[in-house]
Amino acid sequence: MHATQCHNKKLEVHPPRSDLRAPAIQVSGLTKSIPTATHRVDILRGIDLEIQLGEFVAIMGPSGSGKSTLLGLLAGLDTPTSGQIILDGEDITGLDEDRMALLRGRKVGFVFQSYHLLPTLTAEENVLLPYELTGGNGSSGISDGPKRARELLESVGLLDRRDHYPVQLSGGEQQRVALARAFMVRPPILLADEPTGNLDTENGKHVLELLISLNLREGTTLVLVTHDEALSSRASRRITLRDGRIVSDERENAERATEPRP
Ligand SMILES: Nc1ncnc2c1ncn2[C@@H]1O[C@H](COP(=O)(O)OP(=O)(O)O)[C@@H](O)[C@H]1O
Ligand SMILES: [Mg+2]
Repeated sequence: MHATQCHNKKLEVHPPRSDLRAPAIQVSGLTKSIPTATHRVDILRGIDLEIQLGEFVAIMGPSGSGKSTLLGLLAGLDTPTSGQIILDGEDITGLDEDRMALLRGRKVGFVFQSYHLLPTLTAEENVLLPYELTGGNGSSGISDGPKRARELLESVGLLDRRDHYPVQLSGGEQQRVALARAFMVRPPILLADEPTGNLDTENGKHVLELLISLNLREGTTLVLVTHDEALSSRASRRITLRDGRIVSDERENAERATEPRP
């Protein structure tokens, strides 16, 4: 009995993010084509990519180059035409809807341009939602969900707004709630698709500073689609897409994205 208790305790501990773990994201030969009545649209034309745990990757590229399609595939929100995607060691290609939803809940946080908060839930309930969807205590490795939700709301400066509904919050505030929600179950991977696209410069800057600092604090792998050159220079790696292909992949200031040593 005692041994079982110890064992359970061990299971609750968040696994260490070490170099021994699989890469956060492994993509090979990824394509996405959509047939139309007259022809086939080749959106992604063969993407090969490996992203390590803890990396901060900026995805750049002109409008229509396939950035959102790539992120949607990485999040398991869409299925590829061909190729393979492995997230934190688990192959997501070919998973059925239910298993995909479960895996997505545990491994991936997503921040969209348009917030995507549930209008019938308060800020706090929105943040808590991923915890409840992944089975609450135990499966997410978080012992006190409501406490973590409040801590995250405090980190984004919205603890005093926790009982407000999305309609009572500004765009910037809604996106800050969405950030807190994305980090809720400590996913190893966070995907953000132009998260400041609907915000004015000042609010956009605030949201990005929060995203980057939460990412460093939580040791998450961040893949951020952005048009902002200044911002992308803060990333440890910049990948540029054009016409569905990677045309450049540059690493710089790699040490900046590394977690501080204990
Ligand atoms: N469902 C779809 N049907 C047809 N074309 C699509 C569809 N979704 C995306 N596309 C096209 O694929 C290209 C890439 O889109 P997207 O991934 O949204 O690019 P980005 O995010 O880089 O602007 C665009 O030319 C877009 O029009
Ligand atoms: Mg896009």
